[in-house]
Amino acid sequence: MTSARYSRIAGTGSYLPPRRLTNDDIAAQLARDGIETSDTWIVERTGIRARHFVADGVNCSDLAVAAARAALEAADCDVASVDLIIVATSTPDMVFPSTACLVQQKLGAAGCAAFDVQAVCSGFVYALSVADSMIRTGTAQRALVIGAEVFSRILDFKDRTTCVLFGDGAGAVVLEASRSPGLLSSELHADGRHVDILCVPGTVSGGQVLGDPLLKMDGPAVFKLAVGVLEDVARSVLDKAGRTTGDVDWLIPHQANIRILQSTAKRLKLPFDKLVVTVDEHGNTSAASIPLALDVSIRSGKIARGDTVLLEGVGGGFTWGAVLLDF
Ligand code: ACO
Repeated sequence: MTSARYSRIAGTGSYLPPRRLTNDDIAAQLARDGIETSDTWIVERTGIRARHFVADGVNCSDLAVAAARAALEAADCDVASVDLIIVATSTPDMVFPSTACLVQQKLGAAGCAAFDVQAVCSGFVYALSVADSMIRTGTAQRALVIGAEVFSRILDFKDRTTCVLFGDGAGAVVLEASRSPGLLSSELHADGRHVDILCVPGTVSGGQVLGDPLLKMDGPAVFKLAVGVLEDVARSVLDKAGRTTGDVDWLIPHQANIRILQSTAKRLKLPFDKLVVTVDEHGNTSAASIPLALDVSIRSGKIARGDTVLLEGVGGGFTWGAVLLDF
């Protein structure tokens, strides 16, 4: 008889580039091009007060490596014991090789499997679910699962409806095989009919960028879709694990907009004090937002061992998904 095999989080880490821009800083930058915005508008519509941007020459893999090192230290394990690296990102260093291979090179972890997952703001939940499956089937023993983004590189600073929303950063977890869960259930979805509402439509061809390489978004359409799917997928992973909303200690939805976060908590009838909010200080860091919020909450002592945590991603594609876990 074989005994059950699960995955559990052994440690977390995160990294934010040091350059912090307040809403007033962004407003002053846009004003130089005659574009009007204000701290009041941004805070009221989004809850965002500040975001971090990388310096010139710093890339996605640099942020990912810093977060990964912190996670390995928290898990008290050596990089040589890692046999899987997955990086969730939409802002890779290069067209190829994958950012995961660059992270592997910088960490000195040659030989293990390494690949990227591209599901925009749902990327980390996708990557965690894939790593969990690989661990449960015995393909991997210990994985580094990272969400890392440099969205400042794909923002159109002439479009005030998008450039005020996003930031750069990275978060990582060490996920390892365990005789007890760990990850309880997960679910992933996509609906490609909505590719146009959030995209970077440009491409590289013949040595040139063809089309527009900057982010385009229909904000109200994204908002409407996001709140519906976040409620549905949360209920679904809870059902699968035989749990209810009453069992959830902490809800960590993708940190896009405070109004989406609050609306999700309200639909699930979860009190706002169970909602982890970092969007105020980080902005929307896409695939990095969930592991960043998770790590910040663990290091501040908010999330403790044994707590039940619900992670939810939603983003371009349109993609969405959730992971329920006992920390
Ligand atoms: N500063 C000042 N005014 C602005 C700004 C700004 N930065 N941006 C837009 N406005 C103006 C608009 O021009 C418009 O003016 P008008 O009424 O004169 O035409 C007015 O504000 C309202 O614009 P809306 O787009 O209707 O504003 P809305 O209340 O929908 O808020 C927002 C916009 C914040 C983008 C919202 O739709 C939203 O949060 N959507 C979710 C999208 C999101 O968070 N995406 C992140 C990526 S996807 C993801 O992570 C899931």
